[in-house]
Amino acid sequence: MTVSAGSQRDADGRDREAADAWAAVRAARHGATVPAALEGAELCRMLLPVARPRALVVAQLGQSLDGRIATVTGASHFINGPAGIDHLHRLRALVDAVVVGVGTVCADDCRLTVRRVEGASPARVVIDPGGRAPLDAQIFADDGARRLTIRAEGVPRCPIAGVETVHLPLSAGRIAPGDVVAALARRGLRRLLIEGGATTVSAFVAAEAVDRLHVMVAPLIVGSGRQGLTLAPVRDLAFAWRPQAAAYPLPGGDVLMDCDMRTCAGGSARGEEQADERDQDDARRRRLHADG
Ligand SMILES: NC(=O)c1ccc[n+]([C@@H]2O[C@H](COP(=O)([O-])OP(=O)(O)OC[C@H]3O[C@@H](n4cnc5c(N)ncnc54)[C@H](OP(=O)(O)O)[C@@H]3O)[C@@H](O)[C@H]2O)c1
Repeated sequence: MTVSAGSQRDADGRDREAADAWAAVRAARHGATVPAALEGAELCRMLLPVARPRALVVAQLGQSLDGRIATVTGASHFINGPAGIDHLHRLRALVDAVVVGVGTVCADDCRLTVRRVEGASPARVVIDPGGRAPLDAQIFADDGARRLTIRAEGVPRCPIAGVETVHLPLSAGRIAPGDVVAALARRGLRRLLIEGGATTVSAFVAAEAVDRLHVMVAPLIVGSGRQGLTLAPVRDLAFAWRPQAAAYPLPGGDVLMDCDMRTCAGGSARGEEQADERDQDDARRRRLHADG
């Protein structure tokens, strides 16, 4: 893990560097080369791995020190400080589509637009298998961005003009995250930000459908409420997911953990399954040895 200090806003010079770096990152999204002088800028190091790939799934969670992404009542505005929220808007500006679960739409009535930084708003997608998102939700507002709803097969199409309905099959009551990624890619949306909430991000991580995970940790203890990532239990820390990660302290106290999830694919569950299989093989061998 690398730790970088400093801020993008601590002096005039740094402000200029941040503005130049953000312009370079946005240009890199369209294939432009980043000037060597900016390659090392903090913003470039944080965001170029998101900007450069033509296809990518990045997931984000903003959480407290005790791992909460919202209070018991579902309030999550705002766990992170202004610099953390700017970062979220930059992520939105770099992707083709931002994806949330219907729980977030119901709790937050989020707009999912880019407002705090320069950049275009992406398409907005809600995973809503039963079609329970309110029809007047802001995510469906006709502001020029593409709007899509992912529903289970057999559920009626969304009646709002201009909102695309994507029907996907349920398996054990859930839609496979890989099917979501493939369906959106077929519609030209290949760079995705899975913005929340916890259920949705956890499902994408568990399915190994996430390339990068950005966890923005705020110096705040909520003490109760909605937990962030929740995955299958592991019996030993040897089976915990251990992605390569870099930490970036932001002005105001938030710390971004940028995790490369491709370095730990299946880190927990699959490793544990293999360990179980090895244990069973050993036991079988011991039994055969004893019998023989
Ligand atoms: N701090 C942050 O970064 C952040 C970000 C976003 C949201 N939030 C907070 O998180 C809370 C909402 O999170 P949440 O975990 O309750 O809800 P959520 O993840 O937003 O939505 C979960 C629901 O979306 C549908 N869904 C998502 N993925 C699915 C899949 N693969 N297959 C089938 N259905 C799928 C299901 O709907 P059905 O129940 O209809 O089956 C599921 O119950 C809110 O309080 C919000 O404020 C925090």
